[in-house]
Parts: sequence; C-alpha cells; structure tokens
Amino acid sequence: MIRLIYASAATVDFTESKLMQLLGKARSNNEKENVSGLLLYAKGNFFQILEGQEEVVEKLYHRIEQDDRHHRVVVIDRSEITQRIFPNWSMGFKNLEHFDRKELRGYNDFLDRKLSADEFGEMGKDIIYLIEQFSRAV
Ligand SMILES: Cc1cc2nc3c(=O)[nH]c(=O)nc-3n(C[C@H](O)[C@H](O)[C@H](O)COP(=O)(O)O)c2cc1C
Repeated sequence: MIRLIYASAATVDFTESKLMQLLGKARSNNEKENVSGLLLYAKGNFFQILEGQEEVVEKLYHRIEQDDRHHRVVVIDRSEITQRIFPNWSMGFKNLEHFDRKELRGYNDFLDRKLSADEFGEMGKDIIYLIEQFSRAV
C-alpha cells in the first residue's frame, strides 16, 4: 500500500454545498476501491491524503490531478505503508474555515492564507504533523 499526500489550490469558489457534492462522489468511489484518507480545505487550498493499493491510489491521483476545480497540484509525500492512518474513512473531511485553531497543536499559519507554489513544496513536515493531529481530533 502507499500513502500519497498532495496540496492544491481551488480554482472555483467552494461553497459548503460544492464541497459536500465533491465529497459524496469521492466517498462512494473510494469505498468501492478500498481507498481511505482525509481531505482538508482551508482558504482556497486543499490538502488530501490518499491511502490504499499502489496502482489504485496512483490512478485516482492522476484523475484528481486533472480535475479543473483545482490547480497547482503538488505531491508533498508519497510513502509505502503497511498500516493506514484512516482505515475507517473512505474520505474524512475538515473544513478549516470553521475550525478553532487553538485546538490544533503545532498549528501553522499556512492555513490562514493563500499559498505560493514554492510554499506548497516546502510544507512537507508541517502538513504530515497536522494530519496526524487530525487523525486523533476529528
Ligand atoms: C480536491 C479534490 C479531491 C478529490 N478527491 C477525490 C477522491 O478522493 N476520490 C474520487 O473518486 N474523486 C475525487 N475527486 C474528484 C475527481 O477529480 C473526479 O471528479 C471524480 O473521481 C470522477 O468520478 P466519476 O468518474 O465517478 O464521475 C476530487 C476532486 C478534487 C478537486
């Protein structure tokens, strides 16, 4: 199995209902493919973790990457894994627009602003730490 983490920037204004529509589709597809993970949305940026069988995850990532609802899709981490962080979630979701930041240890200000392309590439460690927080807190 592998775990793939990427960041991207939304190209459309994602209202709550658009997010829920995206998520509904993602969850039903992922369930069939035995993919699990987490999607975070903050200030027009997405962070997603996808875990599952290698070919399945790569194929899914390729499809997601082509989606014109976001761009500047950058892989932050791609690792072989033996255990899932989110075994029970076909796609967990957190909209960080409405999140109490004080609850997040190691909270990083990149959730508060639009990111530059360089910053996407540099946030590896921070985002993995943050995602681990979510696996306990959500
Ligand atoms: C930020 C983002 C995350 C997405 N995550 C997933 C996902 O986890 N699983 C999935 O099947 N589609 C996901 N999608 C949607 C895909 O890009 C694509 O629209 C969808 O898989 C097509 O499914 P269909 O062929 O069943 O219509 C995501 C799209 C975006 C913009």
